Amino acid sequence: MPDKIKIISVVGARPNFMKLAPIALELNSRKDKVIHKVVHTGQHYDYKLSKVFFKDLHLPKPDFYLGIGSGSHADQTARIMEEFEKVVLKVKPDIVIVFGDVNSTLACSVVCSKIIYNNIETIPVAHVEAGLRSFDRTMPEEINRIVTDSISKYLFITEKAGVDNLRIEGVDKNRTYLTGDVMIDSLVMYRDKFGKSKILKQVGVEKDNYFLMTIHRPVNVDTKDNLSKILSIINRISSYIKKNGNDKIVFPVHPRTLKMMDTFGMLNDFKNISNLKMTEPVSYLDFIKLLTNAKFVMTDSGGVQEEATFLRIPCLTLRSSFERPETISIGTNTLCGLNTAFILKKVKEIYSGTYKKGKIPRLMDGKAAKRIADVLLQNL
Ligand code: UD1
Ligand code: UDP
Repeated sequence: MPDKIKIISVVGARPNFMKLAPIALELNSRKDKVIHKVVHTGQHYDYKLSKVFFKDLHLPKPDFYLGIGSGSHADQTARIMEEFEKVVLKVKPDIVIVFGDVNSTLACSVVCSKIIYNNIETIPVAHVEAGLRSFDRTMPEEINRIVTDSISKYLFITEKAGVDNLRIEGVDKNRTYLTGDVMIDSLVMYRDKFGKSKILKQVGVEKDNYFLMTIHRPVNVDTKDNLSKILSIINRISSYIKKNGNDKIVFPVHPRTLKMMDTFGMLNDFKNISNLKMTEPVSYLDFIKLLTNAKFVMTDSGGVQEEATFLRIPCLTLRSSFERPETISIGTNTLCGLNTAFILKKVKEIYSGTYKKGKIPRLMDGKAAKRIADVLLQNL
């Protein structure tokens, strides 16, 4: 074993950056034992989806930027694999860490699992946020999770259901570690910094007089039918909340969603909702400031369901499947699908103060990255 172990962390898309931050900090605090390099695939490349997070989270510039950009799943995944293989052959890492369930996660875990050094070894992959399952294989993320988990050596799991899912799939106990939620580590780490954000003033809202929304899942935005349903849901809630103190809706729009609104000729329908404030995607600190001060959040994001649970903000999830059960069974999250009547019922509960309060799950304790680094260094 060399004096120091070489670890590469791979990030590519928005939800990866806030998961990397606590791991990078933890590994950098063990510089006597670890050389840590960061690869950014460039799956997300707009300033507001990428660079702004490096600034907010004080992440060092990536050691390698692959500049992949957008494309079909096959095209994007294949190009990441080609470019990442070159980095791996150059750096020769002892271990590669991948996060979550995006195409960059899948592509780089496959590269490591097939590359051969000295004719004998492949590279062990550590998957952070392993074991989550929506049991909906039409979601690209579900395929990415299943493949990545099946070939990773270290499976770092956020909640107990993940352990159970992997057991059912026959994964050896020795590969699984229930270490908790690194996304929440970031929230805990940056909690004091959110106060400085000026976003409420910039958007023109005040604490508790708006709700926040984010939508970007292909099932919701890539068909005209479902995007129309979402438009109609917003219109119904908009009328209800106008009657209740003229509250507002703040909607930072993901580029996929903006593109589809435009493609379906619906952009003006959204823009014409008088109390809806659409913005570009906002930075991490601005988003958490908006979330912390919102009356509730309506979303289809995985990460936002967790953050809302930790912050105990009511969360209405516009999906029909879920992979983070504790946010529902313990936290503030409710699965709503696109059922307008049910969503309005929940909004009325929120306004009348009868919506569930939720508790914080045990492993959302801000110490997941430390537990992950301990496992990696003990085992190598
Ligand atoms: C990806 C992830 C998804 C994650 C989401 C987080 C996959 C399969 N999907 O979805 O799991 O929840 O990121 O935000 O990995 N675009 C831009 N600028 C950018 C990036 C994308 O304009 O910086 C536009 C392009 O038109 C692109 C589209 O958004 O075609 C979709 O981007 P892509 O990375 O393919 O998937 P996301 O929907 O962002
Ligand atoms: N987020 C952000 N700005 C936004 C929307 C989301 O900083 O305009 C953050 C949010 O706080 C969370 C993460 O992005 O930490 C979630 O990423 P996203 O919803 O893109 O992906 P998912 O979690 O659904 O894969």
